[in-house]
Amino acid sequence: MTVLKLYTYPEPVLKKKAQKVDKVDDEIRQLLDNMLETMYADAGVGLAAPQVGISKRIVVIDVHQEDDEETGELRKGTPLFLVNPSIIWHSDEKVCGEEGCLSVPGQRAEVERYAQVKVHYTDYNGKEQEILGDGLLSVCLQHELDHLDGVLYIDRISRLKRQMIIKKLQKTQSSHD
Ligand code: NI
Repeated sequence: MTVLKLYTYPEPVLKKKAQKVDKVDDEIRQLLDNMLETMYADAGVGLAAPQVGISKRIVVIDVHQEDDEETGELRKGTPLFLVNPSIIWHSDEKVCGEEGCLSVPGQRAEVERYAQVKVHYTDYNGKEQEILGDGLLSVCLQHELDHLDGVLYIDRISRLKRQMIIKKLQKTQSSHD
């Protein structure tokens, strides 16, 4: 498995609507494996294909991973592989929580999301599935599915907060050049 290069704001691929996947074949499975490896390597709970520069409707999520208290090593949970995911139901109730994104490094902000969502998707083996997301999984599903439509969490906060985050990002990016 390979750790892929992460694309960060303002790379144009992050603003594009991603393409549907025709078939889950070995090539797609390899991409799913590499995306999962990349997500763990960067300590993320979710990753969408546009974040590794690939404009396809593919997401990986693991909200159950945790650090082993003794060794400090990552203990993996049960990863979710979602191809062509779409929200088919959401609760009326909304929740507000802090979010970060590997494509917006080092920044966090409060975002409003649906408390629960139901998502239809194709799995690692090409089978159609449904999942009901609650809590962190619900937020994560909405955050990652947004990536497939070229939407970042900073597009869902106030203009003032967005400008502050973009300014801070530009500062850290220019200091690395
Ligand atoms: Ni993200």
